[in-house]
Amino acid sequence: MRTFEHIVGLFILLVNLVCAQDLPDFYSKSKHIAELTPRTFDDVVMGTNHTTVVEFYAPWCKYCQLFRNKYKKASKIASDFVQFGAVDCNKEYNKQLCAKYKIRAFPSVLIFRAPKFTGKPSQDRHSSEEYKDAREVGPLVEVLKGRVKNYAKRVNTRKLDSFLDVSTAKHNRSLLLTQKSTLSPLFKSLSIDFLGSLDLAHMDINREGAREALKKNIPELPEDFQAPILLAISKEEGIKIYEGDMRKKMEISKFLEHYGQPQDGPLSVRGKALRAIIRGKAKSFKQYFKMKKMAAKASLKKDEL
Ligand SMILES: *[C@@H]1O[C@H](CO)[C@@H](O)[C@H](O)[C@H]1NC(C)=O
Ligand SMILES: *[C@@H]1O[C@H](CO)[C@@H](O)[C@H](O)[C@H]1NC(C)=O
Repeated sequence: MRTFEHIVGLFILLVNLVCAQDLPDFYSKSKHIAELTPRTFDDVVMGTNHTTVVEFYAPWCKYCQLFRNKYKKASKIASDFVQFGAVDCNKEYNKQLCAKYKIRAFPSVLIFRAPKFTGKPSQDRHSSEEYKDAREVGPLVEVLKGRVKNYAKRVNTRKLDSFLDVSTAKHNRSLLLTQKSTLSPLFKSLSIDFLGSLDLAHMDINREGAREALKKNIPELPEDFQAPILLAISKEEGIKIYEGDMRKKMEISKFLEHYGQPQDGPLSVRGKALRAIIRGKAKSFKQYFKMKKMAAKASLKKDEL
């Protein structure tokens, strides 16, 4: 009898294993979540100044199934300011990756943060932290908002003059006028995208003397201006005011792209490679760049004909 049970047990185990291998991953159809593999993990997660949240999961696990739609919803809300990734630990080729990050339970949600970029070479590595709050959309998004690095300086009334003076500046500048002293995660993420090519700053217009100083220094501002207002400052064009939607990252990026070349984010070369990975159009950054090169060559040839 015991042996019979053993055989049945073994059979069930085998069926489970075989079925488990065939389970499709959760997020390959998602627009914001990259299904990561050993070929993409480091390029996507480590090759950036952006914060990345990664869910390590197994498609057969009940808690993962319950979390799936919540993770998707969170990615819709927060993918403007953090990258979203997932690793299907059920896939044979991912087993080593999941072992490397000591994944013992599913789902495990890890938040990876880049070391602060100072412009100098550094040995610092990304840090990782396990997300331990409720597996719900709101709490996850809140925690992620707090994990975005910021490279935008705060400008006060005293420093306004010199910030607006770009005559000897290496980069163009952009100033966000706000109603509060803190900065939104969206604008922080823009400061990462344009790191090293455009100097971003923010100023609270409710601080004492701020309105007066702004009016004096920026005649382009309307009489009764309201925050938020985004300005771009360049030698070539003086001060320009952004007229578009303040909540749309793509629109703001397009405006800023005129003043500096983004190294990351939706309009950057890296951003395009990442999008190709998310959409399943490329299996690695390397492959994506190879494809681009070949396409460029092909169109050159066509021109020659
Ligand atoms: C951070 O941004 C700077 C400037 O674009 C870049 O040189 C550096 O490689 C980035 N760091 C990482 C980890 O990608
Ligand atoms: C500064 O902005 C102007 C547009 O006003 C642009 O033509 C120029 O290339 C930018 N300079 C740098 C260093 O990016």
